[in-house]
Amino acid sequence: MRFHVMTLFPDMIANGLGTSITGRAIDNHIFELNIVNIRDYTQDKHKHVDDYPYGGGAGMVMQPGPVYECYKDIIKDMDKKPRVIYMTPQGKVFSQSIAEELAKEEELVFLCGHYEGIDERVLEEIVTDELSIGDYVLTGGELPAMVMIDSISRLIPGVLNNGDSAEYESFQDGLLEYPQYTRPVTFLDKKVPDVLLSGHHGNIAKWRREKSLERTLLRRPELLETAELSKDDQKMLEKIRKKLDFS
Ligand code: ADE
Repeated sequence: MRFHVMTLFPDMIANGLGTSITGRAIDNHIFELNIVNIRDYTQDKHKHVDDYPYGGGAGMVMQPGPVYECYKDIIKDMDKKPRVIYMTPQGKVFSQSIAEELAKEEELVFLCGHYEGIDERVLEEIVTDELSIGDYVLTGGELPAMVMIDSISRLIPGVLNNGDSAEYESFQDGLLEYPQYTRPVTFLDKKVPDVLLSGHHGNIAKWRREKSLERTLLRRPELLETAELSKDDQKMLEKIRKKLDFS
């Protein structure tokens, strides 16, 4: 997999993704990160990439030319046009299932905007997907691009080694994850649940499933409408509802 990031702040991406698990995966050539500075594609002698919005209004708009030239350079050796993802709060909200879908691609291009946005004409020309990381406004698309690349890349085989990998994790089957504990057995007078110390794998699995269902019911009940629930899960959920006095 190769990620291309079109940005005015390449250091932000290089520093953010060059660290920790993603950094190790890049060093080990498990995926590639090609960071391209849009400013390198301006014809302007002062290297400007933005201008005032036609029609007036606050802020500056990124000009279409440098973005388009940057895109053409990125795709010049590709056999087919890649998906180009524009980071915008107006896009569809990113999710684990979108991450799973995007992880199947060979090449992905991320376009990070700044200022008041990017001239619409170049977006119409090159963008295939508009994605948001949530209903709040950031100063630019770099953090959203990093969020998405982090979550997509960890689905690529070899990015997580066994130590990092979660066999079971939130959203895997539409539920939140159960709570985790490690040493010491007692901390601030709170003891690790006995079942986790019992060594009984069946009981541990059952307890974890119950906690997943309980957490999801308490914190994100809407997820239960689409979660993959077995007959046993449904029975367990009924018991939890009764226990918690949920109707
Ligand atoms: N750019 C600014 N805010 C954003 C958000 N919430 N998601 C994606 N891109 C953005």
